Amino acid sequence: MKIPPVKGTRDFYPQDMAVRNWIIDGWKKVSLRNGFEEYDGPIFEYLKMFQIKSGEEIVEQLFSLKDRGGRDLALRPEITPTLARMVNQRINSLPRPIKWFSVPRLFRAERPQKGRLREFFQWNIDIIGVDDGLGKCLADAEVIFTTVDYLRQVGLTSNDIKVKISSRELLADYLISLGIPEDKLESIYIVLDKKNKLPSETFEQMIEEQVQDKKIVNKIIDFMTVDSMPQLEEIVRLKSKPDEYSPYLDVKSVLDNLDMMGVGDFCVYDPSIVRGLAYYTGIVFEVHDVAGELRAICGGGRYDSLLRDFGGPAISASGMGMGDSVLEILLKEKRLLDKQVYKSGLEYFVVYLGVFGKEVWQIVEKLRSMGYPSNFSYKTGGPSKQLKEASAQKAKKCIIIGYEELEENKITVKDMATGKQELLGVDEFFSRLGST
Ligand code: HAM
Repeated sequence: MKIPPVKGTRDFYPQDMAVRNWIIDGWKKVSLRNGFEEYDGPIFEYLKMFQIKSGEEIVEQLFSLKDRGGRDLALRPEITPTLARMVNQRINSLPRPIKWFSVPRLFRAERPQKGRLREFFQWNIDIIGVDDGLGKCLADAEVIFTTVDYLRQVGLTSNDIKVKISSRELLADYLISLGIPEDKLESIYIVLDKKNKLPSETFEQMIEEQVQDKKIVNKIIDFMTVDSMPQLEEIVRLKSKPDEYSPYLDVKSVLDNLDMMGVGDFCVYDPSIVRGLAYYTGIVFEVHDVAGELRAICGGGRYDSLLRDFGGPAISASGMGMGDSVLEILLKEKRLLDKQVYKSGLEYFVVYLGVFGKEVWQIVEKLRSMGYPSNFSYKTGGPSKQLKEASAQKAKKCIIIGYEELEENKITVKDMATGKQELLGVDEFFSRLGST
């Protein structure tokens, strides 16, 4: 009986594993150099953990299960609630700001499609415990900077991707100024979040279902189509008094910080970014491919109430999550993987004449113990067959051990890329290797 893999999951053959490891290694290196420390939590949690604040979409996509004691559990669809729980547990002993990162394996029962799977890896970076206004804008900017720092390191440019930045607070402020009651905001966010996924008539219709006054509907649509900071400033100026605080100032400050950090060309204000998750309270952002053909590469934002919602103190936080799936598709499309990942790990293939014996094994073993990934053939074939095997395994070099050479304690080292061969004494070969 053949059993296929479960829909929306992936098998990682060695070539795929090389890509996965390369992506994850890059995430970890960039996190560490930007001052983040690694953490992790359990793969399953109590079901209610993800029902409190993650939002409708995630709740619908939960993989839930019961343990033997009848407790309702769920496989984690995101790690942010776990992070909030973990930080709350030690809130008094953790030095602030808390700058943590993680690369959890996540599960969402989504309809599998390009870039969206049921099991994936997601890089998370979060900064918790920065509470003053200017500091918050710097922390938001640093989350975005670290995200771009990784994306440009793998070779993506501002012609390939854009960070679209907006603010939930600014949107809330604007909607309230139009007379929309606070308890309606969340249901309107759900509609506004769909702006780029729906035809404009359907989008308008859905807003009309929430807000009956046509004038207000038009004002919302105008606000959602602003595409520059001067245009936004004008709308905000009409609405608020001079010197009055407006969340607009936070958006401006974050964009100014990103300019100062040297990644301004990657970043734009875009009000269509609302985000599906329920816990965001301030700046929100997503990274998209410029061609607009793929789903979001990553998403994040400020969530100042989540720790309190999970029974902790009111401590502010900001962070983002980037999945491996859309990223990999984009890197493949831009031919950025071939150059950087598909390198064989095998340094040496040891070719021998006659029967495999102790002398050959000792050379293989010494190479391996010096840290050089090495292989040899299990079949007693001639050297040309073994060299073919070496090529198939993408070995960088071959060591050829002939009968006569062996008697003189010598070997031939063949460079597989150039074909160049060199006859060397075994001791000389290893002492050269040892000194490199
Ligand atoms: P999210 O928007 O749900 O946010 O997911 C962030 C990213 O994870 C997406 O942009 C995408 O790259 C990836 N992703 C999401 N769902 C899937 C899927 N089904 N298959 C493949 N990749 C997927 C969050 O998860 C927030 N917890 C991020 C965050 C951290 N906010 C603050 N801190």
